Amino acid sequence: MPKPDLSALIAEAGGRHRTATEFVEATLRTAILTGRLAGGTPLRQEDLAASFGVSRMPVREALRQLEAQALLDFVPHKGAVVTEISAGDAADIYAIRLALEPAVLERSIPHLSEADFARADDLIAEMDAEQDPGRMGELNRRFHMTLYGAAGRPKLIALTESHLASFDRYLRFQLAAKGRSHLSQDDHRGMLEAARRGDTKAAITILRRHLDTAADTIAAFFAGQG
Ligand code: NI
Repeated sequence: MPKPDLSALIAEAGGRHRTATEFVEATLRTAILTGRLAGGTPLRQEDLAASFGVSRMPVREALRQLEAQALLDFVPHKGAVVTEISAGDAADIYAIRLALEPAVLERSIPHLSEADFARADDLIAEMDAEQDPGRMGELNRRFHMTLYGAAGRPKLIALTESHLASFDRYLRFQLAAKGRSHLSQDDHRGMLEAARRGDTKAAITILRRHLDTAADTIAAFFAGQG
């Protein structure tokens, strides 16, 4: 993998940022989200510090922030590497979620307790207040799993949770690219209300729409990138 040429991006971004960390973070984020820094590209701290003309501390902090947004991973012996994401992988994850989650929700709803509903309520409020996209994926996953958790099928629940976890980075990518309105909190509220009144059919309809909308958004994101 050749070293990324950051000079054009840095020249375009230069001078508009309050701190060195913000300068590095915003420039790299734009480069990753627009695809100018491809998935798999290694980002070495000393190279970045030299290219940006800053010390290593703001670079390290910027990389940490980008990791929280799922835009890069820290790989052992390699350091920071731009996250590999693809339209095909995203489509696969949505297809699997669509196959699993309505079935799990259907089994779970009749057995959900007041405590489950209260926890789901709290998670919606937490998501409303959360500013950190890195935390958003986790809260979204916990919300969904709270509604699925009473399905009484441990293997099915574990499988569902692992696919939700692999969806996390797409959600965070989506939020970093499009902003927090793309979390579809109305769907979350609607699903919870339907589950509360025991209306399994309505809850499943909202869940399917929730997943379809998310799949369309991420497909549009990739279409715009390519
Ligand atoms: Ni959701």
